[in-house]
Amino acid sequence: MTCISLQLQPLTTTEIPQVLALDQACFGGLWTKDGYLREMESPNSTVLILPAPTKENCLMALGCCWSIVEEAHVTIMAVHPDFQGQGLGQLILLGLLRDAWLRGLERATLEVRESNTAAIALYKKFGFTTAGRRKKYYQATGEDALIMWRKGLDHPHFSDQLTQWEKMVGDRLAKKQWSWQKT
Ligand SMILES: CC(C)(COP(=O)(O)OP(=O)(O)OC[C@H]1O[C@@H](n2cnc3c(N)ncnc32)[C@H](O)[C@@H]1OP(=O)(O)O)[C@@H](O)C(=O)NCCC(=O)NCCS
Repeated sequence: MTCISLQLQPLTTTEIPQVLALDQACFGGLWTKDGYLREMESPNSTVLILPAPTKENCLMALGCCWSIVEEAHVTIMAVHPDFQGQGLGQLILLGLLRDAWLRGLERATLEVRESNTAAIALYKKFGFTTAGRRKKYYQATGEDALIMWRKGLDHPHFSDQLTQWEKMVGDRLAKKQWSWQKT
């Protein structure tokens, strides 16, 4: 069967309405239009999007990362509910970690709800480990946030690790008839 090609790309102003729709679908409106515009304009921020190849003006996934001194802070990871469980989250996270490595950063970190088993499993797959927790971090539910770190982005063999992940992600996407080319 023929695979449909995916293109991971940086967010531009054209996709702002689509990114707000995705944010709404995944988080109920976490960031505003101005928030996304600020991210786009910041040299220390990377916002990657995954347009739906079969549906015009629709984004399947989004990821954002801040570069702070030698650290990559993953601030948003979102896959539209209609497209979850197909390997797209892995593709976004791989893109963010590759970007962090290209920036010469040393380690990556993020916070995640302790009940978010899907996200935690995804992060563990890429070598994130839990280093601590923020008590009652999510005010609406009183839930704790786990603080996760992925060290060693500056290790001489990290580029080999990226190559292995590219293969892993490519194989996972192929199971759902997606293909992806590194740009
Ligand atoms: C978390 C999220 C980004 C994962 O994206 P996804 O595209 O569904 O994940 P993938 O299909 O790439 O799966 C990656 C891995 O995560 C794990 N995983 C994914 N969904 C899972 C689930 N429902 N239960 C357990 N593990 C799961 C698996 O290890 C999976 O690898 P595998 O399919 O090869 O076994 C997505 O579910 C999402 O956007 N959720 C809503 C927003 C959110 O919670 N964001 C994270 C905030 S920290």
